[in-house]
Amino acid sequence: MNKIAITSIILLSLLFLLALGVAVYIQYTLYEKIEEKDAEISELESELSNAQHDNMEMAERLRDKEEEVQDFYEQISELTGDVGLLMKLEETDEELLKKYSRVYFLNEHYTPPSLKLIDHDFVYRENEVEEIHGEVKPFLEDMLFSAEDDGIDMRVISAYRSFDEQSTLKSHYTVTYGAGANQFSADQGYSEHQLGTAVDFTTRELGENFTTFANTKAYEWMLENAHRFGFILSYPEGNEYYIFEPWHWRFVGVELATNLYEKDTHFYDMPQREIDEYLVKIFD
Ligand code: DAL
Ligand code: ZN
Repeated sequence: MNKIAITSIILLSLLFLLALGVAVYIQYTLYEKIEEKDAEISELESELSNAQHDNMEMAERLRDKEEEVQDFYEQISELTGDVGLLMKLEETDEELLKKYSRVYFLNEHYTPPSLKLIDHDFVYRENEVEEIHGEVKPFLEDMLFSAEDDGIDMRVISAYRSFDEQSTLKSHYTVTYGAGANQFSADQGYSEHQLGTAVDFTTRELGENFTTFANTKAYEWMLENAHRFGFILSYPEGNEYYIFEPWHWRFVGVELATNLYEKDTHFYDMPQREIDEYLVKIFD
């Protein structure tokens, strides 16, 4: 082999070794970079998983807090509801649902908190005015309009009566009927009329002969419909207080009247403590 060939072989070998070294170096450096990146990725992954964990915990805490706020809100609205009911009850005259037929007594100073005139078109006696408890008036007039729409003729012959008016009326009846007056007329202080919520009805045809009201279409209509307007028949046949008074109806509120109608029972047959539960809703 000549010198040139040997030199060439040596140079080529050196070049090969150099290339190999460079290749090994590059691979090594790349490998290091990859490892670095892998470490970064797994660090990020662990940070991400921590963050997700924290996130879940925060979401759970947020849910707990939301539930607490909701509970608190419900408690507050329950309390406000109770306070509202109590205030409503406080403002409602507790006499309105008491049994005023020889059971409870209203003194001579008791008058309803507000009295209003009944529309004269619904009053039977031409020259008289009749008054009714202010809050009962819309119920009474709705009832009378509804009856009129059904072709029923019905007129008010007596509504609110003060303690003194009841006393005068009772004396007048006693002069005429003696003790018999107790069968159909309450003593002063014991009449539902003093509450301003009781009404005696007649028809134009019957006029002053309203004691035969039971034979009228108006009475039949009242039996089927009065409860929808909060009225009940106080003294049905066989009651233990007075004779059968088909003309005498008392406002006790729609809910109680409807309940009595559905159970086919009467106001005076229901225990007072049960009746009292309806007081707060009497004008609803
Ligand atoms: N007629 C009823 C009983 C009253 O006088 O109140
Ligand atoms: Zn009456």
